[in-house]
This record gives sequence, structure tokens and C-alpha cells, in this order.
Amino acid sequence: MSTKIRTLTGITTTGTPHLGNYVGAIRPAIAASRRDDVESFYFLADYHALVKCEDPARVARSRLEIAATWLALGLDTDRAFFYRQSDIPEIPELTWLLTCVTGKGLLNRAHAYKAAVDRNAAEGIDADAGISAGLFMYPVLMAADILVFNAHSVPVGRDQVQHIEMARDIAQRFNHLYGDAFRTATGTKGEPFVLPEAAVDDIVATLPGLDGRKMSKSYDNTIPLWLPPKDLKKAIAGIITDSRAPGEPKDADTSNLFAIYQAFASEESARSMREALAGGVGWAFVKQKLFEEIDHELGAPRERYEALMAKPDEIEDRLQDGARKARQRSAPLLEALRATVGIGRPLAQISISSSEKPAVTKAKKRPQWKRYLENGLAHARLVDEEGTTLIETRGLDVKTMSALIDAVNSFATDANWIGVRGDLVSYQAKPDEIRRAIQLIAAAEAEKRSKKS
Ligand code: TRP
Repeated sequence: MSTKIRTLTGITTTGTPHLGNYVGAIRPAIAASRRDDVESFYFLADYHALVKCEDPARVARSRLEIAATWLALGLDTDRAFFYRQSDIPEIPELTWLLTCVTGKGLLNRAHAYKAAVDRNAAEGIDADAGISAGLFMYPVLMAADILVFNAHSVPVGRDQVQHIEMARDIAQRFNHLYGDAFRTATGTKGEPFVLPEAAVDDIVATLPGLDGRKMSKSYDNTIPLWLPPKDLKKAIAGIITDSRAPGEPKDADTSNLFAIYQAFASEESARSMREALAGGVGWAFVKQKLFEEIDHELGAPRERYEALMAKPDEIEDRLQDGARKARQRSAPLLEALRATVGIGRPLAQISISSSEKPAVTKAKKRPQWKRYLENGLAHARLVDEEGTTLIETRGLDVKTMSALIDAVNSFATDANWIGVRGDLVSYQAKPDEIRRAIQLIAAAEAEKRSKKS
């Protein structure tokens, strides 16, 4: 396993991406994911979205838009881990294990919760009125997001730093309580969890919005990322400037319009724009140039975005692939943690070499697909370590066979199994479970077909 630095960050799926998200988070994250010494994890925090948003259509739409955005902007999903939180069942599982070692007092001190309590107090109503347990537990879910992949570094905005510190506290507490048990359960020397650190990049400018305050959904001052050119131009026209007329000298440093321009222009262009402003160029000129820069940078990705949004199945496939890849890390860790806290599965074969290496299965014997051709038809058998046939197919055409095997493998990720490139790693393989899996797949396929027709 790699010794790379693991960096991880989550995006809450409640809104439509805007230029501030792009400049502050998405663009630097995609650039960072190209580094060879880093392993990056980016995920759609859709469980977190439920804390803030009870509108199902909005959460679903936002998930799709954000996924399409990252893909359109060129996130290399072969390198990075890109997945949905809700596709990783180990996250809510770990949330509970962590909940049980988290002091309630720690959560009482969380800024978001405290602010809600303070608002209630100011109104003279019950301290916890209208506050869900989800809001209270938010930091624990976030700790699970981070710890389940043993991330070292978590790039976040300032407002999230306390959450990372809490994740660290919770990890430390778990390590302290269960470190020995973990080492016994896994036969390793490591700690269960790496202690994560927040990475706040002060250089990454927070982009000002239309009104000069930080561009943010909550201020309603955003420019959406994927506006068609005409609307983009209109939105840029709405950026507030002072009333200095063309001809009057202007100071770039106090101009939010210039700050936005700078985020998209080359250093060189920014320098000459600064001089042009001092020389009295009008705001309309800056707006025109800003439009050109943004359209230049986002024009091609916009086309890819639109193409992806027209094919949600493709996005779904990419996310499913991402989840499969991520679960190759999270599932073995959770097996180890279950054993650690005393709720392990007796049959589980835990193979984990240290907390630094929440690594998967060694190349040991495992059920395997044997494929063969007979009279022009593809046949396959899933054979377990003892040579017992677990599944046998009838003759199928080659394409259908591949689809069937993929379906079984991917179903397996949702049970106690993990699909790894066409073979199966099993923790508790039982022929009955496989049979049931196949029946479920068949039923799902039948339902799909009947919906289509
Ligand atoms: N709470 C973060 C936000 O609102 C999103 C998030 C969820 C996150 N889980 C995470 C960020 C884990 C970093 C790591 O911005």
C-alpha cells in the first residue's frame, strides 16, 4: 500500500455550484489531485445535506449537478477517489462506533449547534427548540467521513476547522480506549486512526460575490458556475462597483470586481488591468474582460457539463465505480474495528497490516469466476476456495455474461462482499446468500425492463 499523503474533503449537496465554490474549492482540489505524492478523496456529503435540507428533489438535483461539475472540470477518477457518502455503508457504521466514544460535552461546544442554541435563547424559547439530533451529531458524521479513510489532511474553509479538530479529538479518544484491542485484533502495531489535520489555505482567495461580501449561497450574491454565456454576461453586469466614471483613476485593491477578475486572469493580465484601472479605465471594460476570461476558462467544461447532465446514467456509473474503489479501503477497516470493539464476525478474515495501511486483502485464495465457451456460448462458474461451485450460469452471449458477472460483483459490494476486478473477495461467503443476490439482481433487472417497456 501507498505511503502517500491522503487528503480528503466533502461537498455538501444542497445547492448549485457557483464561481466561489469553483475558485475556492473545486479548482484547487482538482489541481491537487494531479500530484503524484497525494491520494485524494472527494465525496458528495449527501447525508450531511439532510441536516440542512429537507427537500428531496433539491438534494437529488444538487448531487447530480455537483458530480457532473467535478467530472466536467476534469477530475481524474482513476487517480482520485470520487464517491457519494451514502454509497459507503461503512460511514454510518463508523459514525455509531465514534458516537459511543464522543463526549456529549464536546458536541455541545460545536459552533453550529451553539449558535442555534444561542438564537433560541435570544428569542426566549426552549434552548433546543427546532434543533435536530442530526445537527447535534453533524461533527461525528464528519469525523467518520475522515477517519474511515484515515485521511491525513483535510482542506476546508475556516468555518470547518473546529470540525476537523473534533474529528482529531474523537480519533484520539478511540485510539486511547481501543488501541490495544485493535492491535490484538489485527496483529499489528499501529493505531486505529490517523489524527487528521485541517489544511486551511489562506492564499486561496475567498471570492467576493455580487455585493462584495464573500460569495455564498447564504448571502444570495452568487454567480452560478454553469450559466450560458448570455446569462453570465448579465450576472457579471450585476457586480456592484463604486460610482467612479470612466476617466477617473480607480484602485484595484479595493475593488471586488477586480478581485473576481484576478481569480480568472493570468498574472500578467491582472497586472495590466491594475494599471489600466489606475489610468481610469471604466468598470464596464473590466466587466467585459472578466466575461471573456471566465468564458475562456469554463467554455469547454460547460459543454462537457451539459453532455453529462443529459446522461445521468453515466454519472451514476462513475459514482458507483468510485464507491467500489473506496470500499476496498473502508470495508476491511470496519471489519477490523468491529473485531476491535467486540462485535466482530467470527468468520471474518481480517487482513490489515497497520492503521497506516488500511489495506485490503492479500492475494490469497478467494472465490473466482471461471469462464469458458461451449458451442459458441459463454458459461461461467463462481468457484470458492475449496473448489465448490457457488454459481453456475447457463449458456449466454458474451456481453450478457459480462453484464451478469458485473452485476453479481457490484451487488456483492452491498452485502458482505467486495468485488475486486472480476473476482470476489468474501468475508462470509455462503451459497444461500449468493443465490439470494442473484434473485435480487434478476428481480431488479426485470423491473427495469418493465419500466422501459
Ligand atoms: N461540513 C463540510 C461543509 O459544510 C462538508 C463535509 C462533510 C466535509 N464531511 C466532510 C468536509 C469531511 C471535509 C471533510 O463544508
